[in-house]
Amino acid sequence: MDLSVYRNSFLSFLEENTKLKEPQSLYDPISYILQLGGKRMRPLLALMSVDAFGKDYKIGLHAALAIEVFHNFTLLHDDIMDDAPLRRGKATVHEKWDVNTAILSGDAMMILANQYLEVYKGDVYKKLMQLFQKTALEVCEGQQFDMDFENRNDVSIPEYIEMIRLKTSVLVAAALKMGAIIAEASEEDANAMYEYGLNLGLAFQLQDDYLDAFGDPETFGKQVGGDIIENKKTFLYLKALENLEGSEKKQLLTLFTTPQENVLLKIETTKKLFIKSLAVSAIEQEIKDYTQKAFNVLDGVSISVSTKENLVAFGHYLMSRKV
Ligand code: IPE
Ligand code: IPE
Ligand code: MG
Ligand code: MG
Ligand code: MG
Repeated sequence: MDLSVYRNSFLSFLEENTKLKEPQSLYDPISYILQLGGKRMRPLLALMSVDAFGKDYKIGLHAALAIEVFHNFTLLHDDIMDDAPLRRGKATVHEKWDVNTAILSGDAMMILANQYLEVYKGDVYKKLMQLFQKTALEVCEGQQFDMDFENRNDVSIPEYIEMIRLKTSVLVAAALKMGAIIAEASEEDANAMYEYGLNLGLAFQLQDDYLDAFGDPETFGKQVGGDIIENKKTFLYLKALENLEGSEKKQLLTLFTTPQENVLLKIETTKKLFIKSLAVSAIEQEIKDYTQKAFNVLDGVSISVSTKENLVAFGHYLMSRKV
């Protein structure tokens, strides 16, 4: 099935189910962020997964909406935490309104996400809720690790991978598994879809980190260099630190431990060190490896060849994305 079928169907469902209500100052920011677009990859994956197990993908629409609204809630709070001015090419909610608004609209979105799942019944509902709540808590854990790492100088690459597994991958994985649960796939197949999503999600977050430093400011939609400004311990940073020696290593450490007056210079110097240290080549390889791992998982799942081809094509699309 053509991915645009899922996308269009999801977009009309989103439109129908996110009507403006009072108070406007609570609901306006919600519709603002939801209408700003985005790739909609998590709902697409959920719908693809329902379809993969031979059910009408439309029975997954409520779950797809729950996941997308939850994801957008995390963005509202993440942008406060990361002091981010831009999201999808537009002002972030806490910049356009204020921090309090972004907090409360975010909270409301988290609740709405749970309500959308109420249409499912019995065992399916129970399984969906258990997975969704577990995932939501893991995202909080990942986000807190991400924050804690800003102030630490001894973060290891395995710790970083665990942090991005929590903050990003588990939601991608849950989207796929929720689709499988709704389609009443076997436990084994549902878990395999989860595993595919975990690996895809790791590749996806690595690519996000790469784009945060090297994306095109015209098209990326977020502030380029934001992670560097915030001293994020990304793969690029950790690999560069591992590979550099002497004065260059010291320079990178200093940039990330002492406040920099000239932020643009900090970004430029850091990017040069990322390239020179071969951290950029290493991240490219890492992205390919995790994507390949995701594809390998698909070998064992009982879904049609054409669905597997769709999931592989999706992995390639994510690797080549610029936003
Ligand atoms: C952004 O997610 C947050 C990350 C986990 C990197 P997306 O890149 O999926 O954001 P949108 O929804 O497409 O804007
Ligand atoms: C996002 O990580 C993870 C969540 C929103 C849970 P980032 O902070 O890298 O996401 P972006 O780059 O702001 O989209
Ligand atoms: Mg962020
Ligand atoms: Mg963040
Ligand atoms: Mg990012």
